[in-house]
Amino acid sequence: MAYQSIEVRKLTPSIGAEIFGVDLAKPLGNQQFQEVHDALMDNLVVFFRDQKMTIDQHKDFGRRFGPLHTHPNAPIEFKDHPEILVIKADEKSRHVAGEEWHSDVSCDAEPPMGSILYLTEVPPDGGDTLFANMYRAYETLSDPIKRMLQGLTALHDSSKAHYYRVKATDRDDIKFPNAEHPVVRTHPVTGKQGLYVNRGFTLRIPQLKRNESDALLEMLYRHIETPEFQCRFRWQKNSVAFWDNRCAQHHAMFDYFPHRRYGHRVTVCGDKPFYRAVA
Ligand code: SIN
Repeated sequence: MAYQSIEVRKLTPSIGAEIFGVDLAKPLGNQQFQEVHDALMDNLVVFFRDQKMTIDQHKDFGRRFGPLHTHPNAPIEFKDHPEILVIKADEKSRHVAGEEWHSDVSCDAEPPMGSILYLTEVPPDGGDTLFANMYRAYETLSDPIKRMLQGLTALHDSSKAHYYRVKATDRDDIKFPNAEHPVVRTHPVTGKQGLYVNRGFTLRIPQLKRNESDALLEMLYRHIETPEFQCRFRWQKNSVAFWDNRCAQHHAMFDYFPHRRYGHRVTVCGDKPFYRAVA
């Protein structure tokens, strides 16, 4: 794809590209918006370096792509900005958000289209984020498995990811969303098929017996984690990553304890996942 207003450098043939020539603090003109959108569709996750954004500028950039989502189970750290999800770890952290491969909030009936993470503090080493291409994960399955998956759905439940993260005293009052989605999802923009089950949120495949569901999901999770489908992003202070949750999964590497890592995420609303057979 030829770009006029930005420069796009691929990280791997499968997934990920760095974008140069954009100041995310300023409103994107129509051409730059379209090209950033096209680069995201082509590469599934895009990265920007050396950005300086206020909370409002971060939200404005996200809103260019759609309404912003508020996380159903994460604490609200800024009363006036419930859409800001704080991503933080320090010397007290035992776990961090997103340590398992996942697609954000797949437990929602209409899971987010994309997430935009801006890190302003990074550890001296480590704290990378890994991303994996779910189109490639689907395409590389053998035909009999593809045929079987096309008719299946999966249950996704927020409690799998968040139950032990919320305070024990709050658990009875909190609603953990759940939803049933097709195992193979058609991307609403590209029309491509991708795998849509993830370790973070998926519980089971209701059409199968328990042991069949567990075995099939474990096989798919291992397949999804194939290194050829991945890229690994090395953060610097003031880097931004924007990923498409409809066709990519990610995994936050927590290998930097006891150092600090801090940033804000905005999440762009999406639509109800569907499967459409290709002729
Ligand atoms: C997440 O949004 O899942 C966290 C990603 C990260 O901290 O790298």
